Amino acid sequence: MNDLMIYCQGVSKNYRKGKTVITPLEKLDLEVPRGEFLALMGPSGSGKTTLLNLLSGIDSPSEGSLVIAGVELAGLARRDLTKWRAKHVGYIFQLYHLVPVLSAFENVELPLLLSPMSRSERRERVTSVLDLVGLGDRMHHTPSELSGGQEQRVAIARALVADPPLLVADEPTGDLDRESASHILNLLQQLSKEHGKTIVMVTHDPRAAESASRTLHLEKGRLLETV
Ligand SMILES: Nc1ncnc2c1ncn2[C@@H]1O[C@H](COP(=O)(O)OP(=O)(O)OP(=O)(O)O)[C@@H](O)[C@H]1O
Ligand SMILES: [Mg+2]
Repeated sequence: MNDLMIYCQGVSKNYRKGKTVITPLEKLDLEVPRGEFLALMGPSGSGKTTLLNLLSGIDSPSEGSLVIAGVELAGLARRDLTKWRAKHVGYIFQLYHLVPVLSAFENVELPLLLSPMSRSERRERVTSVLDLVGLGDRMHHTPSELSGGQEQRVAIARALVADPPLLVADEPTGDLDRESASHILNLLQQLSKEHGKTIVMVTHDPRAAESASRTLHLEKGRLLETV
């Protein structure tokens, strides 16, 4: 169990809307070893984002067991879950979600402002992740002064700055041209291979999925495994 980053058993998610019940995920079993780079594909509405939200503790399953980094999430109170998430998961969004008036440095620094850390230690961390994503020379630019690919790299740096073992990415290359996309995919590969990060990446692009070590397909809330 210790070599597993994600252990999901019989996980279902239901949403109740009046009398109808929507089930975006149904009895899902999933095991992801530490350090794996997993791609998740599937048609629109098949439950991909719902699954990322469960894996990252943003949302909770209606049923089943979900153990991430050795912790059963269902057993955590909301406050503890928020703390757990800040330490263990970095979330990368398709549309970056950067704060427009803040510089790259300040955007990446944000998640650290909640943790007790000296200013100099914070500065060192932020600078080193921005260097890692290749933006050491763009630290003082605001998002509007960066290209889409560079904005996504800032978002990745922000997801990495607290050094979480798990990264989830929802179509991180969906909005990028081929060259910027391939830069992001190489970076994710490097993070899994050289830094041991476990990555779950949702993508619609089969070429992007090729960068991952395994691809799973979701269809109507169920997982189909392929080779
Ligand atoms: N908060 C919610 N309340 C009710 N239904 C929801 C909620 N969130 C998602 N759903 C439903 O769950 C299903 C799966 O949604 P989800 O966002 O996970 O799909 P997806 O695979 O990420 O699709 P896309 O590729 O378009 O992003 C959809 O039918 C959606 O309408
Ligand atoms: Mg989605």
